[in-house]
This record gives sequence, C-alpha cells and structure tokens, in this order.
Amino acid sequence: MCGIVGYLGTKPAYPILLKGLKRLEYRGYDSSGVAIINNDELEMFKCKGKVVNLEGIVDEKAMTGTIGIGHTRWATHGVPNDVNAHPHMSENSELAIIHNGIIENYGPLKTELIKRGYTFQSDTDTEVLIKLIEEIQKKGKFDLFEAIRFALKEVVGAYAMVVINKKNPDQLIAAKMGSPLVVGIGKDNEFFFASDATPIIEYTKNVVYLEDGEIAIVDRQNGLKIRTIHNKTVKPFIQELEMNLETLELGGYPHFMLKEIYEQPRSVKDSMRGRIQVNTGTVSLGGMRDYLDQMVNAKRIIIVACGTSWHSALLGEYLIEDLARIPVEVEYASEFRYRNPVINEGDVVIAISQSGETADTLAAIKLAKSKGALIYGICNVIGSTIARESHTGSYTHAGPEIGVASTKAFTAQLTALMLMALVLGKEKGTIEAPTFQRLLVGMDALPDKIEKVLKTNDVVYSIAEKFKDVNNMLYLGRGVNFPVALEGALKLKEISYIHAEGYPAAEMKHGPIALIDENMPVIIIATKDASYEKVVSNMQEVKARGGVIIAIVTEGDTQVKSIADHVIEIPITESILVPFLSVIPLQLLSYHIAVMRDCNVDQPRNLAKSVTVE
Ligand code: AGP
Ligand code: GLU
Repeated sequence: MCGIVGYLGTKPAYPILLKGLKRLEYRGYDSSGVAIINNDELEMFKCKGKVVNLEGIVDEKAMTGTIGIGHTRWATHGVPNDVNAHPHMSENSELAIIHNGIIENYGPLKTELIKRGYTFQSDTDTEVLIKLIEEIQKKGKFDLFEAIRFALKEVVGAYAMVVINKKNPDQLIAAKMGSPLVVGIGKDNEFFFASDATPIIEYTKNVVYLEDGEIAIVDRQNGLKIRTIHNKTVKPFIQELEMNLETLELGGYPHFMLKEIYEQPRSVKDSMRGRIQVNTGTVSLGGMRDYLDQMVNAKRIIIVACGTSWHSALLGEYLIEDLARIPVEVEYASEFRYRNPVINEGDVVIAISQSGETADTLAAIKLAKSKGALIYGICNVIGSTIARESHTGSYTHAGPEIGVASTKAFTAQLTALMLMALVLGKEKGTIEAPTFQRLLVGMDALPDKIEKVLKTNDVVYSIAEKFKDVNNMLYLGRGVNFPVALEGALKLKEISYIHAEGYPAAEMKHGPIALIDENMPVIIIATKDASYEKVVSNMQEVKARGGVIIAIVTEGDTQVKSIADHVIEIPITESILVPFLSVIPLQLLSYHIAVMRDCNVDQPRNLAKSVTVE
C-alpha cells in the first residue's frame, strides 16, 4: 500500500507534496512524511497518523526547497509510529527514500548490513533498502543510479520508490517493480512522481506509467531518462491523462463516499456511453471485439476479484450464466492464487478491480496468464497495473473513487458485466430478440431510476437513526440480490464497525436464524421477482422469532409492507437489473450510520483503498 509523491522543479516542493499526499491518503494513513532539500540541507519531517498531523510539524514558510519526496503509509513491516514513518535515511543522512511495497528478503539483508556496521532506527523493510543502496554505492564507488540498479538486483519483493540525494539537488531517481508509479512531465524540466495520477493532474496532463523493472531519472539539466534494471535504455511513452480536477474534489459534499453514491446516475451512464444503442438494438464492448470467438466458445469463464469487486463477480456469474449460458466460476483472487487451480490453455479469466492494483488479483492473473488463459480486465483506474497486465478488457469509467468504501465502482462494474453478458448472449444466440431489446431499454432507464432511489435518502436516514447503536445486522437476499446482501453487509462492517453478515435468504434457516431476536435487525431485499413469495416466507420466519425487519421492496408493494417494520421502495425494473437499484439504499444506510457513530467514513480504520500486498 502507501502513497508516494516526488517533485523536482522551480516551485517550492512542500505545498505540492502536501497536496499530493492528501490526494493519495486513501492508499494509507498510518503515518506521513516528507524529505526536502532546503538551503542545501536534507530536511525530513514525519509523524504518525494522517497528513494533517504532518502539517502541524512543518513550517511551510521555511520550506522553500524545490526538490522533495513525500509518503503516506499503510504499514506492512513495523507498527504505525513516528519512527517507522517514511522517508527513511541512509546511515550518512545523505540519501532518503520513500517506498510502496514489501522487500521480502529484508531479513537476511538487514543481518548482513548490521554485520557491516549499519544501525537501524525503524522496523521497516524500507530502511534496509536505502542502507543497501548506500553500502553498494560506498563499496563499488558507483554513482547513485548504478548503486540503486545493483541494489534492486539483490532485492526480492515489490516496490515503487523514489530516492533523493542531498549531494545532488538537481535529481530524483525512482524505480518500479509490482507497485504503481507514474511520472508527470511539466514544462521546463518540472517533474512529478506519484502512485497514481491524482497528485499530478493539476500541473500537467503528460504522464509516463513506468513498467516493472524500470528506473526513471529526472534531472534539471537532462530531463527524464528511463533505463531498465539491466541498464537498457527505454524511450518514455508519454500519454495524455483524461482525468479532470473536479472529480477529485468534494464538490460541496461532506464526504467522498456520499458524493460517490450520488454520482451513480452519471457513472452508470458513463459506463454505458457509446457501448449501448437502444434504437438500433446494439451493444458492444471494444475489448471483446478481437476475442469474441474465444469468449463465446469458452467452456467456462473464471472471474477473480476481492472485496466489493468479488461481489460484482458473483453477479457476473448470474448474468453471464443466465444470458449467455456459459458456466462461470467466481474465485477469491487470494485463494485462487494459492491452490494450484486447473487452468487450461484458452480458458477465459476475467479480473475485476476498481483500483487495478490489488496484489491478490494481480497475482491471480499472472498465474492464469502463465498457463495460457486469456485475461480480460475490468478496471476503473486507467493505466493501472491489472489493466496493463490483461490481454484485453474494459474500463468502467466511473471516474476516480476516493472513499475507501467502494460504491460507484460497484455499479459501474455491474454495468460492464451486464454489457458483456448481453454481447456474449447475442453472439451465442442464447437471448431471444425481445428479451435482448427489453434489457437494453431497462439498462438505458437505469440512471433515472437510480436518481429516484437516491430520493429515499430521508427514509434511509431515519432508519439509520433507529439502528445506529446495534451490534449486529443480518442482510438477506436471494438470486441476484444475494451478492447485494453481501455487499450491504460489507459496507456496514467496513465503515461503521458494526458486525454484519450477508446470507442467501433461504440459508438463514440453516443456522443464522438462531441469532434472531429483537436486537438483531434483519435487512431483507424482497423485490418482486421469481423468488418473491419465498423471500416473504423467510421474512415471516424472522417475524415469528421477534426479529425486526427492514425491507427493500418494489414500488407499490403491499404484502411486505404489512410484515416489515420499515420499508424502502425502489422502482420496478427487469429482475436481473434490480441490484443496480437495491444496493443504493444499503450504501446510504451504512453511510448514515457511520456518520452518526462518528466514524471516519472515507478512511475507515485499518483499511486502505488499494491493497497492494498479498
Ligand atoms: C470495498 O468497499 C473495499 N474497500 C474492498 O473490499 C475492495 O473492494 C477490495 O479491496 C478490492 O479492491 P479493487 O476493486 O481495487 O481490486
Ligand atoms: N513495507 C513498507 C512499510 O511497511 C511500505 C508499506 C507499503 O507500501 O504498504 O513501511
């Protein structure tokens, strides 16, 4: 995890680094720090906790240096405290490093360095890396680039790192393996480094995404040079960013999560834009074009993902199996990777990831790729590692998602999966023409219907007030609403720290029913579809045991209203499209409860937005 940022240019580095760290704080907020060459001194400030704490210990006016690095941490090695915060310095205090990743063989390297007289201040793996670079530089009398290059050859693990050198205030050197790193190229030899493009966007749209094994040197005189760890020159491939600044700001909302929930009418529309034409009855996904035969004829499709993206994957299974009749297996990426899965040449593996950086998902696709599978990436972050590692894929176009709890990325992922199921079904001939057309019309109407669901906010708010102090909640749903129940429970857990579980409604009687009493509210998604009557029976079972029910129902429903204690109505849509609507009140409910409990909604404890460690 961690967010890293670097600046070399003509302006004071500190405000640029600080703003960058705030943008990257979603990646980790255990501690933060900066190192800046200021009046020929390498000055370092770092402390535990959020970036605001750092602001409190730095005198901005005194920091005029125009070269610096900054870091916001999600700890992997060593507890979150001041000392373990990055940057970390070399023994002679001339070099400082920021690092995102894990140096797996830091143990033996550290032992060896201690033998050679090095002392360590922190418990991090990162400090070992900077001292290894220092030792190699000293021993071999190498320049810093060569020392870094040789050090990286000895390192096992993942890194995106930037090194600053007191002796050379005109240069920063960065390297990447596994963790993401973007270089921004401004005017007149002004350069930026960052874990993603968000700290860069307001200064320049020209960026280079570094590849694994590449080392970038930025220099006031010589500009940007990229060489590999094997010392081969690489021509920088400059891309233009498509992001805009407003999407990174709160825009009047108190939290990013709320803003992102409310963005869903637009983000779902953006995910469909140009891909669906209701009047001509066409659906297309650019990424499928060249692989359509292989995908249509696949014996099975495997979907790998984690967390919320895994819940989308479960829905993908329903959609693709139902509409295209291709067997789908959904795997937790982390489990798939470590259980020697059967993958055959030509199998289709879909990886779903908002960030496109999740290490478990990345490891899963690397394994599947090595066995000859076709990898289709569904990612939100453009240019992310999973997107680039995939043979083909589709971006979800939800726009930057900053709240740690995923909301608009989920509905955007569902959009991409639905389009994929429609393309496959049409090509395979497994969807009747009228059904196909009805689903297109249904998809097209979703943004307006989501808008309507958002109007239930007041009802949801008053329900949140009643249940904000409970210790447990049970979420039930059937068919396509089962993954929605899982997602609702995850949302509540991660931001309000209330224990919650999602279950298939009918499974309740096989165990969880024992938990039901007046203190355990049960949220049931009971929309009108094939299993409606059965879900109503499950609801009766809860009632009979004194349970309290909050039901999500289809507009105009009267039967459930007479049983449930609270109801939230959502508009009628095609059964298969209900999750796009039923998930919205659950997102709002967890949001309001978390705010009422005074929890940090956008940055819940112990979590980070992209989990780049396995
Ligand atoms: C969602 O609210 C979570 N914060 C988390 O489960 C997340 O979905 C998971 O870590 C996967 O992330 P990705 O989509 O970026 O791969
Ligand atoms: N391993 C480093 C540390 O714990 C970096 C952490 C990370 O990138 O998540 O400080």
